[in-house]
Amino acid sequence: MEGYMEKAVITFDNTQRTFHLRNETISYLMSIEEGEILSHLYFGKRVTGYHGSRHYPRYERGLSPNLAGRPGEVDRFYSKDVLPQEFAGNQTGDFRSPAIIIKSADGALATDFRYDSYEIFSGKPELEGLPQTYVKQDDEAQTLAIKLKDKTLKASVVLYYTIYADRSVITRSTRVFNESEYSFSIEKVASLQLDMPKQAMEVISFPGSQFHERQVERAPLRQGITEFSSRRGASSHHMNPFVVAVDPNTTEQTGEAIGVQLVYSGNHQFTFEKDYIDQVRLVTGINEDGFSWQLAPEKSFQSPEAILVYSDKGLNGMSQTYHHLLRERVARGNHQYQDRPIVINNWEATYFDFSAKKIEAILDEAAPLGIEMFVLDDGWFGQRDDDRRSLGDWYEYTSKLASGGGLRGLAEKVHAKNMAFGLWFEPEMISENSDLYRQHPDYAIHIPNRPMSLSRDQYVLDFSRPEVVENIYEQMTAILDRVPIDYIKWDMNRHMTEVYSTVLNSEQQGEVAHRYILGVYDLVDRLAKRYPDILFEGCSSGGGRFDAGMLYYFPQTWTSDSTDAAERIRIQYGTTFGYPVSSMTAHVAAVPNPQTQRITSLETRGDVASSGVFGYELDVQQMSAEEKELVKQQVAFYKEHRHLIQYGDFYRLKDPFLSNEAAWEFVSPNGNDVLVYHFRLLASSQQNFTITKLVGLIPEGIYVDQETGEKFSGDELMNIGRYDDPTQAGDFTAQVRTYFLED
Ligand code: DGJ
Repeated sequence: MEGYMEKAVITFDNTQRTFHLRNETISYLMSIEEGEILSHLYFGKRVTGYHGSRHYPRYERGLSPNLAGRPGEVDRFYSKDVLPQEFAGNQTGDFRSPAIIIKSADGALATDFRYDSYEIFSGKPELEGLPQTYVKQDDEAQTLAIKLKDKTLKASVVLYYTIYADRSVITRSTRVFNESEYSFSIEKVASLQLDMPKQAMEVISFPGSQFHERQVERAPLRQGITEFSSRRGASSHHMNPFVVAVDPNTTEQTGEAIGVQLVYSGNHQFTFEKDYIDQVRLVTGINEDGFSWQLAPEKSFQSPEAILVYSDKGLNGMSQTYHHLLRERVARGNHQYQDRPIVINNWEATYFDFSAKKIEAILDEAAPLGIEMFVLDDGWFGQRDDDRRSLGDWYEYTSKLASGGGLRGLAEKVHAKNMAFGLWFEPEMISENSDLYRQHPDYAIHIPNRPMSLSRDQYVLDFSRPEVVENIYEQMTAILDRVPIDYIKWDMNRHMTEVYSTVLNSEQQGEVAHRYILGVYDLVDRLAKRYPDILFEGCSSGGGRFDAGMLYYFPQTWTSDSTDAAERIRIQYGTTFGYPVSSMTAHVAAVPNPQTQRITSLETRGDVASSGVFGYELDVQQMSAEEKELVKQQVAFYKEHRHLIQYGDFYRLKDPFLSNEAAWEFVSPNGNDVLVYHFRLLASSQQNFTITKLVGLIPEGIYVDQETGEKFSGDELMNIGRYDDPTQAGDFTAQVRTYFLED
């Protein structure tokens, strides 16, 4: 790689007082305005130089206050209320959503941070205790740290901007310092603020629910505030911590898109505000609702990181930038680039009702099919016969697996079949009916004297307390040191209520939810470091914590508790906007589907699941010989194409939210291998002829259809396209085509 000196450059123009961050694809520009206000000029396609074209017009506006602190020289043509800024204060002349609110000792809530100094350095500073993007060598990126000060508060903030040399990415975060003699309370601190001039704009968000994660919604902004957020203590199924601002004409393959994603797994907030002259502000970070942080003198607070991506190649261009970044510079560890094993998981086959005999029977059937890993799901610990008990008791339920030699015996049997062994945990939770709760009822998050809300009959452990985290660490390592475990499914099945910690003082209760997430990060970090060979998979009642934060520790996540192929088409389609396919696990389930009772063919189920990190979640014993034969073929197909699927370039081609079809494509980085999936959703008695056009091929290359031997040029497949097979019968059918480039 060439050094940043040639590719990523950050400069400060002393005459214009502007900062310019640029690489070969993007530019980010800021300026220091009158009164040392740091203003935002531009984020978008790279420009070679800046000569003042975005200088903000001066214009007198009623009811928009002028700059404070300049008695005798008030400029009525200048107001922070409309000026695009980088880090807006509160109650000091800008009525839009602020980036920071601090409550000082006297109870005032005003903030007004002005430019102080800057530093430019190569590489990227590490954010302690938080997930983050990283660099492997310092010349991959350059960082600009801009210091702003609020002289009245005696506080400063440092805004970090890192630009990667070879990616259309800028990462941002904020650190707040208390330089006064008194403690103050941070009531809100943004990871990123992005002000944008008046322009036609729509926003894409990813709302959902359990079984319906990351549905794609696209809508124009209206004046006022539009917010996408979570107050659940988790990033949540309900609103993924990721938004995209697009031009109304932007499509999957063309047009401009700006993505903003938080590297964080807790409460989040994305506030869009369209102001009274149609300018747009986006502020994102930890959700201010319920948050506050006591900052003692000389202490600092680091916000989570936000990833800003620009694309002028449509939504697919943006997604690919995220896919590469998250795969290459967020995910870590021994499994980061490893082909992920094909799993069989017993959850939907047995639920809690299993014995050594039952599990061994599943294994005996699964191993000859070529499946590579067995995962024992919920129910192996404490007295866990149902979901009303034993969370927190991470020791073996000896009688359940006794006849097979317990967990260790089972792990050895799995290994003897040349398969890997995986185990389910839900470390952050506690059941009322558990030894842990009987010994330490105070470990559950609760407010003394207030009734506690149950959810799935369980409580959340107070992970803001290091000793609680330590207890779970000790219990888990006792199992992991004794049983040869290759994989952990890390589940989390309820959200936070009665948010309070009995060991924090009354001023600190607003810290609990964030401290909890820091506790989770601490535990997973320690476990991942102690057991570097274990493959971790995140899960939260399906894909309720599918975020870049968890990806820093766990390279893959269970995408959804809906294993229905029809629903999965949309869920997986939506997930790929922000997250790489290597992180998205997908299993073939039995029919009628346990969640929807829908019947889809085994072919379709295989095609949907093989578009992610593949596996099965059913009782193989119930399958006919014919079905098992098909499973064998699916497994063999997946092994042949797995590297392309997990690590190739992924393109969305047809949108199942907008049409009766879905299509996506995997292309190897050199353009040689291509895999195309086309799904028809509902059948029709008068079937349309549909055409799928490919993207990302070598235009003049000759591509051979692996199945039929037919040959097509790359530009023919991209510009003319081929008809999809209209003859398939029934709803939710799939067609897969593979091509290779002729020598
Ligand atoms: C929720 C997960 O998403 C499921 O896959 C399964 O592991 C259950 N929890 C077990 O309780």
